[in-house]
Amino acid sequence: MARRPLIAGNWKMNGLRGDGLALASALVQRMKAETGPAFDMVVCPPFTLVAGVGAAVAGSGIALGGQDCHGAEKGAHTGDIGAAMLADLGCAFVIVGHSERRTDHAETDAQVKVKAEAALAAGLTPIVCIGETASQRDAGDTMEVVKGQLAGSLPEGASAANTVIAYEPVWAIGTGRTPTTGEVQEVHALIRGELAARLGGGEGGAGGLRILYGGSVKPANAGELMALPDIDGGLIGGASLNADDFWAIAECCQ
Ligand code: 13P
Repeated sequence: MARRPLIAGNWKMNGLRGDGLALASALVQRMKAETGPAFDMVVCPPFTLVAGVGAAVAGSGIALGGQDCHGAEKGAHTGDIGAAMLADLGCAFVIVGHSERRTDHAETDAQVKVKAEAALAAGLTPIVCIGETASQRDAGDTMEVVKGQLAGSLPEGASAANTVIAYEPVWAIGTGRTPTTGEVQEVHALIRGELAARLGGGEGGAGGLRILYGGSVKPANAGELMALPDIDGGLIGGASLNADDFWAIAECCQ
């Protein structure tokens, strides 16, 4: 089934205004030179840059996303950002449940689910992140962990049209280590199977829902990863901070 690849850049806590705007305009230039790209692209800058980067990418075909949102619509939550605020700035996506949020802020699957549902309510597409730690993989628990996180984090009302899953093994993030292509495909196939049980297997459910891989994706390994049958794009950290590298990864989807 045809799933259009999504290449998502997670800038994490990187970039002052000048850096973010330079990166965004370098990507916009490349997108303008492209005739009929074979991928969708989204950049997720830190909150301070969302508005500025949004203005820079407006009308370019590059979408905008946040890196997190609160589970409540609004209210007394000092320092947090609501999904509607991101939508108001032109965001179409928001990452929820990234392993760095799960670790740094002790976010649970239940909280991630509520955040994803808040995103849906605001008209945003949540990119719901799941993935095992090194010790969980070493213990042979990868499949159970991923299944459990998916079951606990998937929002009610999820469909192929409104939700994206990102499989990011925690031990592959920022380490230069990646699972083998066989290991990645095995987990993605499991995720698609679980989604099929929950949403049905057709285009509107598991058949059409995009599952991204994230964790040390670089231009050198993106080709083999993006060619796997159940990989529908990437969630890119470090390499998304360099326009040439990020673009080269996207071009692997051609
Ligand atoms: P790296 O690409 O830097 O490994 O980060 C992956 C990631 O966490 C994207 O969300």
